[in-house]
Amino acid sequence: MPANLMTKSQMKKLAEQASGIGQPGGDARVKEITNRLLFRLMQVIDECDVSMEEFWAGVGFIAQTAKNNEFGLLVPGVALEHFLDLRLDEADKKAGIKGGTLRTIEGPLYVAGAPLSKGEARMDDGTDPGEPFVIEGRVQGEDGNIIAGAIVDIWHANSKGGYSFIDGEQAPYNLRRRIETDEKGGYLARSIVPNGYGCPPESCTRMAMNALGRHAERPAHVHFFISAPGYRKLTTQFNFTGDKYLYSDFAFGTREELVVTLERVTDSAAIRNAGFNRPFAKATFDVTLTKERAGAPKTEVAREHVMAA
Ligand SMILES: [Fe+2]
Repeated sequence: MPANLMTKSQMKKLAEQASGIGQPGGDARVKEITNRLLFRLMQVIDECDVSMEEFWAGVGFIAQTAKNNEFGLLVPGVALEHFLDLRLDEADKKAGIKGGTLRTIEGPLYVAGAPLSKGEARMDDGTDPGEPFVIEGRVQGEDGNIIAGAIVDIWHANSKGGYSFIDGEQAPYNLRRRIETDEKGGYLARSIVPNGYGCPPESCTRMAMNALGRHAERPAHVHFFISAPGYRKLTTQFNFTGDKYLYSDFAFGTREELVVTLERVTDSAAIRNAGFNRPFAKATFDVTLTKERAGAPKTEVAREHVMAA
């Protein structure tokens, strides 16, 4: 069939009818967004002359993605989660908020309710032969004030790029900890250096990336939620210099300001002091939170999270 068979007014009318526009009842916000989505979708179908087969293959792809519970992976893969961060950055700028550590995507693999400890934590269960790792830093406010009692919620993959709870191979909450900052605002985590990971071979997300001629890999990274009373919750990550996929993260999570160079510690006294028996890697990641204030864009997002029993 040729493209552009429909007039704009035909599509506009149909989208409005389907969205209940001009009719009483329903949710005004849902009606408005549905109307705009439907109208744009009809335009794309008509402009690109999407065939019946292509349309139903698309519906099947969405259905399979839902069946796999995979939207949390597809959404960052098509840059939408990063897009939401960029919008929030702009909203912050407009509200006159600056000086905080940059945010970046949460990703799909957070598990709520990790063990909580004060000042420091051991994150790995000792079974991973990966490189020992120390992550340490300080949480402060935008004025440089120390924030004691902030909760630093950290999660990362193991040396094979797998996440506990998700991969079914690791103990519950392995490599997931919450640390309350000490009186100097400090936190310290002992762990193993994570590896990057790719989308599962059979996943819809990898299938989509293949069709788009893109890879489906992430560089190694460490995830953070940081919160403290009176401050805006921060969702962020850091990456490591030298990673093959650092600047081509399929999930658009890398931000230059959040790239950390790992220090390799080989001094035997320093190794002993850190509680290890072999050389280890060290990352310093200081965090600045911005104060909660009237009119500040919301950063605490209601989103469904699993809990490991
Ligand atoms: Fe991740």
